[in-house]
Amino acid sequence: MAEAGLSVVRLAEFAWAELEPEAGRFDFAWLDEAIGLLTAEGLEVVLGTPTAAPPAWLVREHPDVLPIVADRHPLGFGTRRHYCPNSPPFLEATDRIVTALAAHYGRDERVRVWQIDNEIGGRCYCEHCRAAFRRWLRERYGTLDELNATWGTAFWSQRYDTWEDIGLPASEPTRDGGFSQRAPNPGLALDFRRFSSESYVAYLRRQLDLLRAHAVADQRITHNLMGFGVGEVDYAALTAGLDFVSWDNYPAGWPGTTWTHTALAADAMRGFKPPRVWVMEQQVGPLGWEYVRSPRRGQVRLFTYQAIAHGADTVVFFRWRTARFGTEQHWYGILDADGVVGRRYRDVERLAAELDELALLADAVPDAEVAVLHDYDSRFALQIQPANAALAHEATVHRWYAALRRLGVGADVVPAGRDISRYRLVVVPSMPIVDEHVAAQLSAYVEGGGTLVVGPRAGVRDVTGAIPNRRMPSGLVELLGVEVVEIASGDVSAGLQGGLTGTFDGWFEELAVVDATSLATYADGDFADGAAVSERRVGGGTAVYVGGAAGEELLGSLFRTLCARAEITVHDVPGDVEVLCLRSGDERFLMVLNHGEEERRVNLATGETIALPKFDVTFVRREAPVTEPVVEPLR
Ligand code: GAL
Ligand code: ZN
Repeated sequence: MAEAGLSVVRLAEFAWAELEPEAGRFDFAWLDEAIGLLTAEGLEVVLGTPTAAPPAWLVREHPDVLPIVADRHPLGFGTRRHYCPNSPPFLEATDRIVTALAAHYGRDERVRVWQIDNEIGGRCYCEHCRAAFRRWLRERYGTLDELNATWGTAFWSQRYDTWEDIGLPASEPTRDGGFSQRAPNPGLALDFRRFSSESYVAYLRRQLDLLRAHAVADQRITHNLMGFGVGEVDYAALTAGLDFVSWDNYPAGWPGTTWTHTALAADAMRGFKPPRVWVMEQQVGPLGWEYVRSPRRGQVRLFTYQAIAHGADTVVFFRWRTARFGTEQHWYGILDADGVVGRRYRDVERLAAELDELALLADAVPDAEVAVLHDYDSRFALQIQPANAALAHEATVHRWYAALRRLGVGADVVPAGRDISRYRLVVVPSMPIVDEHVAAQLSAYVEGGGTLVVGPRAGVRDVTGAIPNRRMPSGLVELLGVEVVEIASGDVSAGLQGGLTGTFDGWFEELAVVDATSLATYADGDFADGAAVSERRVGGGTAVYVGGAAGEELLGSLFRTLCARAEITVHDVPGDVEVLCLRSGDERFLMVLNHGEEERRVNLATGETIALPKFDVTFVRREAPVTEPVVEPLR
């Protein structure tokens, strides 16, 4: 590892049965030895708490540590993440192993970082969770009358007469063109999602407090998140007390993943705790459990540069040596299972040497002028009632983000409620729940001169999951100067005309333009000639409302117009070329990555043209007059 130029190694994140072979008996000897060997070679150690893999003895003694998963069956022993975050015996066992680990390694300076658990997520439907959910509801609502009124349980005679009546909502996925017999009361379903999320947040918090009580001050504590596609736990809340955020990046692991998906994940994960982030697991070779997919030659290097371009200051490859045993035999490491040095090792070695030379990257952070807002309450609400597949939260946020990024515009992906005052453009692709604080913040932002773009369905639910007793987009009608007077949903598209080109697909709103002007109108469909995209100018700012599920072309045309007005630089680059602006001290530069399969000619707004080989990356100074690249394109 040291010879290859690696500097960090993560250990023991699933090793509970080895560390605590039976309840209360600990064995750290093997781990001490490993840490000794590794640190003697100059490697820094990240130590995982092993709680994602409860051992057989614990399950045997306390079967109720096992979670009841979405299909309402227990997740049995023999895989991982087989725990309920509200199971008292599991919490007790967690306290014991984490305290023992922290007592043993909390003062060991060779351990630089703690990783709590591994990829927290899920929802549990067990009796412990049901009981905890009722307690949670009692605390939130105080009285059953209040709960009944809030959830509107008069509908379908769902009134609860005792707290014990309250069960857990169905967990079936929604289905377009059908009605699930078990479709739950949306208020119940929304609160259960919040409760489940908070259960995991509290579980992480519990470990965090134990580690903090023992760990020396300069041991930093993190958790590895799973990217933007996973929406069960509110990552903004989960990461709140951590020293830094890390995440796991497998760009070539899933069909249909493009560079913009990886970029969105990277920006969203960094967005929870900017400006820097770690990639705790980065794809280094072919991967899969039952099946295998492999990156193209040259892509692992490109993925690493992409991670760095999005603010990663450490990238840890997963994994060192391919496992001969277990579910992940297909998850190829730097070495094959035989441990022999091969191509992947040589590639990593070359990459490590190359990165050592690039001093410029050491302190570089993304320098974005645009913010994309998202929020988990809204995401939960949409999981329960998507309304139209075209409105799905992740896909919508991705479409808006990708439209910006394809113009070479950098975007921070920011949890709603954070300070947005420094951005020139703020977009809100998908926010059915707009709380009052966020609404006020958006108004202040526009009044302060900002440009705001709000997508369809904003404010259609209040924080309880009820439909607000107001005009839509509720809470934003005054700011945007429009009212939604009718909606249409179906498998059709409508063209737009006027100042913008493109279509709405699947979801359409008829707008009454009360105190705004129309940026584009419907060319066809039931709302033909009516406003489709509106804008209201207030003070120095602009508030735009997009009244339908906008396709890529439309978003591109809208953002191009608004960037020109807001003086945000746009680059006309091929669709598979990524351009990002970074700042390193006073130096600002562009990173240009060719995700395409062929060499691309890239014309930058700065005036120069670069020929960039496939899967390659280069750097260009940003400030005009721009002349030479900071470094030669790498080979
Ligand atoms: C991650 C996980 C690792 C490993 C890897 C490959 O999700 O954190 O432990 O399982 O994927 O499957
Ligand atoms: Zn449970």
